[in-house]
Amino acid sequence: MDPNKRPDDMIRITTAELAEKFIEEQVAAVREQVGDNNVLLALSGGVDSSVVAALLIKAIGKQLVCVHVNHGLMRKGESEQVVEVFRNQLDANLIYIDAEDRFLDKLAGVADPEKKRKIIGEEFVRVFEEESNKLEGKFFLGQGTIYPDIIESDGVKAHHNVGGLPEDMKFIGLVEPVRLLYKDEVRVVGSALGLPDDMVYRQPFPGPGLGVRCLGAITKDRLAAVRESDAILREEFDIAGLTPHVWQFFTSIPDFRSTGVKDGKRAFDWPVIIRAVNTVDAMTATVPEIDWAVLKKITDRILKEVPGVCRVLYDLSPKPSATIEWE
Ligand code: XMP
Repeated sequence: MDPNKRPDDMIRITTAELAEKFIEEQVAAVREQVGDNNVLLALSGGVDSSVVAALLIKAIGKQLVCVHVNHGLMRKGESEQVVEVFRNQLDANLIYIDAEDRFLDKLAGVADPEKKRKIIGEEFVRVFEEESNKLEGKFFLGQGTIYPDIIESDGVKAHHNVGGLPEDMKFIGLVEPVRLLYKDEVRVVGSALGLPDDMVYRQPFPGPGLGVRCLGAITKDRLAAVRESDAILREEFDIAGLTPHVWQFFTSIPDFRSTGVKDGKRAFDWPVIIRAVNTVDAMTATVPEIDWAVLKKITDRILKEVPGVCRVLYDLSPKPSATIEWE
């Protein structure tokens, strides 16, 4: 039997009861696989790695070492939530690395989106490798690979969870307890493990994070503005009850200024672009008709609360011809 092929008769995990059964089986399987050894896991705070972390904590406790690399491109409050949930609530063995300066130094002056992605990906592996080299003992590598990753890596798209880490890292093997699950099943398992809803049901967030939403060469002032405006957008979508109904929403900030007027004086500040889309598979996307009053409130708050911003735009472009992200 191919361990990476989902059996045709595997029941879809749609209820807490089925999730409990899956967790029980996986806890036993992981204990058996890992024995007295350890598991190292890169914990981004995304759904998949968070669910795997919670599952492995249940299975092997402190034999799991989680590494959270804060590349300085996380959304507001995201790294703090990872520490709060995993270190403080679940008592995980968590290494938190503040690598913001390191990433921003590497990215300084780099405007090309694909180069930015490459730098962020490579630097991430380097930081992770450095941390793993400091550890003593024998380690498996834990990964939040899910079934669509396996299917996709078979075809056109290389996925970071499948074969993205350097081969010279000496791991005993891989621990991938959710590799046969679809995303909706991973979420049900995450809830059954007690993870908070906003972690389990969070929208997709690109690996390069705000790095591809702070358009062109990243600067600290615009990075702060995109983070703050994104937090306001999320807060207001929550208040308006839109969060469960819009697939992905965020702000981006271009690398050109525009003329404005503030307190009776001419300003020359950044615009912020609101992006909201609905989609099934991210291959095509439509733009939801957000209530005008909600957009106005978000606009007013961004203009009032985010320094250096004098304009707010709503992106009406479907995919195609636009992509979801601006870069
Ligand atoms: P696009 O912009 O291509 O995005 O329409 C489709 C979906 O993929 C996400 N995205 C990324 N995810 N690394 C990721 O892990 C990336 O470099 C990346 N770029 C885009 C995007 O947020 C959307 O959900």
